[in-house]
Amino acid sequence: MEQLIRGWDGEYVVTRYDAAADAWIFIAIHSTRLGPGSGGTRMRVYRAPVEGLDDAQRLARGMTLKWAGVDFPRGGAKGVIALSKLVDDSQRESLLERYGLIVESLRGGFSTGPDLGVGPDLVGVIARQTQYVSGIRGAGDPGPWTALGVVASMEAAAAEALGRDDLSGLSIVVQGIGDVGLPLCGLLSERGARLVVADVDEMRVRRVAEELGAEAVDPGPAHETPCDIFAPCAVGGTLNSTTIPRLQCKVVAGSANNQLQRPADADALHERGILYAPDFINNSGGAVYIVGTEALGWSEEKVREKILGIGGVLGEIFREARANDEAPVLAAERLARRVLDRGPGT
Ligand code: PHE
Repeated sequence: MEQLIRGWDGEYVVTRYDAAADAWIFIAIHSTRLGPGSGGTRMRVYRAPVEGLDDAQRLARGMTLKWAGVDFPRGGAKGVIALSKLVDDSQRESLLERYGLIVESLRGGFSTGPDLGVGPDLVGVIARQTQYVSGIRGAGDPGPWTALGVVASMEAAAAEALGRDDLSGLSIVVQGIGDVGLPLCGLLSERGARLVVADVDEMRVRRVAEELGAEAVDPGPAHETPCDIFAPCAVGGTLNSTTIPRLQCKVVAGSANNQLQRPADADALHERGILYAPDFINNSGGAVYIVGTEALGWSEEKVREKILGIGGVLGEIFREARANDEAPVLAAERLARRVLDRGPGT
């Protein structure tokens, strides 16, 4: 852990061992160049605490790029609660309350919201102890807004790679039907896409398959399903040297953070002729919603406009990448870098 923290290009990591739950808590602040640290809190079982730390650091860097990509006055940060084993409901609640106290102690240097394993309901538990939260169920669940941005991204990618101006009739595999994947499926079905869904939770899969007439596939090999668009909407790292050679899609565009296991995976996708829409651009809708409505005082109309604009931003990124014959993620990172170099906008 020492090595990982010292070798990181971020600012600092708040670390706490929670004895009662045998859980490690990491709050990673990557960059406050554009504003105070802001990012969701992820909670899951990790094989070892160091993997939770690594996830927190990588996710926080992703948030820096995400805020810069939309030019928002927030810094990249993320909270990770690394469980050693599954916890029951009451253990989870008390752990999240203790976590809320830590967030509160940072006095706004970090504000948080939902992420994998901490849905909008559980954000409400954190909020018992701290004011520095947003994205509580009913009072600003960002999931549907993230999903809207992913749809805009898919449309931009379909235009670039398939010469299509809508999604109707396209086959789309959604891997992970949680707080983002579920509303995403609804939006895609409205647009006439042919849906294929996968999740580790069989009940969920069955429900979506029935309600939306989607086809269900096993979550493990979901990425091998022949389709137009593959949408990773769960854990990160699903695009790697094992899975990329087996993909049978033309486009990858999903909501998961850190979809690429390593930077070189972007080149591998590019070489295979698969268009990869950079995750930190296409999943920024939730972040835009949270900060747009709560900090910048935007109306829902304005938020919607900005989120639909993600499609235009991606279109520019794809064009630049095409001109340079490079992976789009390189063009997207240059865009973020320009904003970071310039500093907070007006
Ligand atoms: N965790 C989500 C994301 O990575 C939503 C979120 C954004 C939550 C910003 C809190 C703050 O975009």
